[in-house]
Amino acid sequence: MKAYRAAILRFAPEREPRHAAVFEEDGLLVVGPNGAGMQVVQAVGPYRELKDRVPGVEIEHLPGRIIAPGFVDLHIHFPQTKVIGSPADGLLPWLEKYTFPEEKRFSAPEYSAQEATFFIAELLRNGVTTALAFATAHAESVDALFTAALHRRLRLITGLCLMDRHAPAELLNRAAPDGTLDATEQSLIDSEALLQKWHGRGRLGYAITPRFAPSCSAAQLRGAGVLATKYPGVWIQSHVAENLDEIKWARALFPASRSYLGTYADFGLMRPRAIYAHCLHLDEMDRALMRDTGASAAVCPTSNLFLGSGFFDYAAADRAGFSYGLASDVGGGTSFSPFHTMLAAYYVGREGQTKAGLSLAPQHLWWQHTLGAAQALGLDGRHGAPAVGNLQPGCEADFVVLNPQATPLLARRTASAHSLDELLFAMIVLGDDRLVEKTVISQNI
Ligand code: GUN
Ligand code: ZN
Repeated sequence: MKAYRAAILRFAPEREPRHAAVFEEDGLLVVGPNGAGMQVVQAVGPYRELKDRVPGVEIEHLPGRIIAPGFVDLHIHFPQTKVIGSPADGLLPWLEKYTFPEEKRFSAPEYSAQEATFFIAELLRNGVTTALAFATAHAESVDALFTAALHRRLRLITGLCLMDRHAPAELLNRAAPDGTLDATEQSLIDSEALLQKWHGRGRLGYAITPRFAPSCSAAQLRGAGVLATKYPGVWIQSHVAENLDEIKWARALFPASRSYLGTYADFGLMRPRAIYAHCLHLDEMDRALMRDTGASAAVCPTSNLFLGSGFFDYAAADRAGFSYGLASDVGGGTSFSPFHTMLAAYYVGREGQTKAGLSLAPQHLWWQHTLGAAQALGLDGRHGAPAVGNLQPGCEADFVVLNPQATPLLARRTASAHSLDELLFAMIVLGDDRLVEKTVISQNI
C-alpha cells in the first residue's frame, strides 16, 4: 500500500449532474493491490479523516499539487503522429495528401516499433493513461503498438485497420501470400488472430476497426459485424458523419441504408463498446440509433476545427441521450494534450451559428475526458469490468500529478481562482504538457 497527500479531484457519478466533481483541498489517496494484483484505489478522502486509518503506510506528500484521474483518449491514430499540422481543404484531400503516404510506412516492423514507442511515451507525458487507437492495415503496426503499450502498462485498445478499397494498394489489407484468400477474407482472419493474441493480455483490448464505410467493401463490413457478434467483449471503432463530402460518398456506396450511420447498424456494427469518431452531421433518427444501440461518440474538437469538418452538437446529443467522450484524433487533431482538447471542446460548444451556442462547464469538460470517456468504453466498473477515469475506491490507480504553478501565468491565474470551476477552467485554458508533473500508472504486482 502507498498513499499520496495532495489536493484530489474525482467524480461522484451517483450525484446529479453526472459530471459533478469532488475536490479535496488536502486529500489522501490510498492505493494498494486488489484480488487480481492490480493497484487500485483503496480509500480516498480528506487527509485529516483518513490519515489514522492507514498506520504504517508510506505517505508521499505533494504540497501544492493536484491529483486527478488519468485522462482517457477515446480516439487517436498512432500512425499519424507525424501528420499533425498538415493543412488541407478538408478531410478527403488531407487523407490523400498526407495521411495515406505516412501510413504506408507502417508495413515495416522497425518503423512501426519506433513510432509506437514514441507514441506511448507522448500519451503518458500528456497524462493519458487509457487510449482507443487506430493502427494501420498492416498487422505489423498492431503488434508494435500493443507491444509498446504492454511495456509501459498503458491501458490500450487497438486493432487491424480494415480497408480493402479506395486507397493506394500499399495501404490496403493484403491477400494471402499463396493466393488462397483475397484481401477481404484475409483481413478478417488476421483480425481474429490478432484479437486472440492480444485481447485481455495485461491491460490490452482489441477493437474491430473498419476505417470508415467508404474504405470497406460490403463483404468486409459484414465480416466485421460477424466478429463483433462472436466477441461481444471486444470493442468496435470507426468514423462517421465527419465531413459533407465523405457523407455524400458513403451514401452513394451504400444507398440501401437509411443514413451513413445506418450503414454500420445494417452490418451489425452498433452495440455497447462501439465508438464512432466525430458524429457531427447526424439527424434525430441517427441520434436515437446511437442511444438505442448503446454505441458512443468520440468527440474530436481540435480535429474538427483544424479540418473544418463541423461542430459536435452537445445539446442534441444530450436530448437524445447517447453517450460520448473526448478524443484528440491526432493527427487530424492538433495536440496530444487533453487540456488543448478540452479547450477546443469549449469553443465547439460556444459556436452558435450552426446550432445554439452553449457554455460547457469545466467539470463537464474534464469529465468528458476521464469518467465520461471511460463510461463510453464500458470501463467504469459496471458488469465486472475494470474501472478507470475516476479515483473512487476500486478504480485502477491511474492518475496525474498536476502542478498548477508550472508556468508563471498558470501560477498567477490559478492563485486567484475563487472556486473549483475557476481553477479547472484556468488549467483547461492555460494548460498543456507542462502542467503534468507526473503520470502514475496502475501496476500489476
Ligand atoms: N476518416 C477515415 N479515416 C480518417 C482519419 O484517418 N482521420 C479522420 N479524421 N477521419 C477519417
Ligand atoms: Zn480519426
